[in-house]
Amino acid sequence: MTTVELNQVSKHYGPIHAVDRISLRVETGEYATILGPSGSGKTTMLSLIAGIAAPTAGSILIGGRDVTWLPAAQRNVGLVFQSYALFPHMTVFDNVAFPMRVRRTRQVELRHRVDEALALVRLEAFAGRKPHQLSGGQQQRVALARAVVFKPDILLLDEPLGALDRKLREEVRGEIHQLQRRLGITTIMVTHDQDEALSLSDRIVVLHGGRVQQIDTPINAYHRPNSRFVADFLGLANFLEGSLERSGGDCAIRLASGEAVPCAAPAADVAGRVCGVLRPEDIHQWRCARHARRPDRRSRLLRRDGSLCDRARERPAHRGACAGLALAFPGGGRGPSRLGARPDLDPATGERRGVTGASRLALFQGASIGETAVSP
Ligand SMILES: Nc1ncnc2c1ncn2[C@@H]1O[C@H](COP(=O)(O)OP(=O)(O)OP(=O)(O)O)[C@@H](O)[C@H]1O
Ligand SMILES: [Mg+2]
Repeated sequence: MTTVELNQVSKHYGPIHAVDRISLRVETGEYATILGPSGSGKTTMLSLIAGIAAPTAGSILIGGRDVTWLPAAQRNVGLVFQSYALFPHMTVFDNVAFPMRVRRTRQVELRHRVDEALALVRLEAFAGRKPHQLSGGQQQRVALARAVVFKPDILLLDEPLGALDRKLREEVRGEIHQLQRRLGITTIMVTHDQDEALSLSDRIVVLHGGRVQQIDTPINAYHRPNSRFVADFLGLANFLEGSLERSGGDCAIRLASGEAVPCAAPAADVAGRVCGVLRPEDIHQWRCARHARRPDRRSRLLRRDGSLCDRARERPAHRGACAGLALAFPGGGRGPSRLGARPDLDPATGERRGVTGASRLALFQGASIGETAVSP
């Protein structure tokens, strides 16, 4: 059992609160990802878990054991940094063997373990090479083999793919994930890449200013963000601000324009001014019906980049060319088919396609709306 637990952990550098009262529990075998803007405390948090830095306050437990004041070397933690930090004068074999030599492992076992670790990252054939004779992805895999060779209790990865180009990134990302699953090792990874975090992790920890904003499954963090910051940070978001109105089991956001937009019921303590978020993919693409219809003058359009725009300003561009639409809601069912949208010509086929559109009516019904109180 190798859980990682942080209890009210802080790390202050003078007036800077790099990590501020963070509490978190990562379960055995879990793959947790830490996301947050630059300077939000991600590396500091990993350093505290690894024992490279000592906390100003709070306690850290690994596998139920209090390691707050235990030196890094005694924590049995595997670490991979963004820069591979390989020893340039050593061969791949010796680089991977290094943690075993530090632990004074017997020669026979050392050889066996290093071979095993190199096989895990498919680099058996490269054991005799020096780092400069390897590609970036191969070097990162050596760093990974070095981090797991001594069978660490937990694996900490600080932007391990940051230096790789997109294709390599995807390749090594997949390998890390497979390796993690095969070894069943509790893993905490820092990344700037939201896609990576959303697609690979069991849970996401969003940091901001040294504090935890949300700890949740990727799906919940994305579709039910608990704050505007999280909603904005994780992908494209359209925001609707207004006041929350509850009537029986139904809820709606009353916008400043007076429109009421139905929304999913938020947490019981959310009231007053609220902000709803609508993800672009919750608004389905549709093809225009052949016959044009009169546009709904009060409906709104959503631009391709996801931003809402005023229909009035867009009108000249699509006058006379609005069409009927069929809406499909994520929760199933179909919406009104009388919404206006600006049809675009598909340059390849010459077909007319509706721009993703939104209406004041029921477009948001069934869509996932994350609500949070915003300051009045
Ligand atoms: N040794 C230090 N002395 C003083 N301030 C520090 C020290 N280490 C980190 N900080 C500060 O703590 C804050 C958090 O830093 P940290 O390196 O944890 O951020 P990060 O989230 O990893 O950022 P990035 O995404 O840029 O790597 C920053 O404001 C940073 O300047
Ligand atoms: Mg960092």
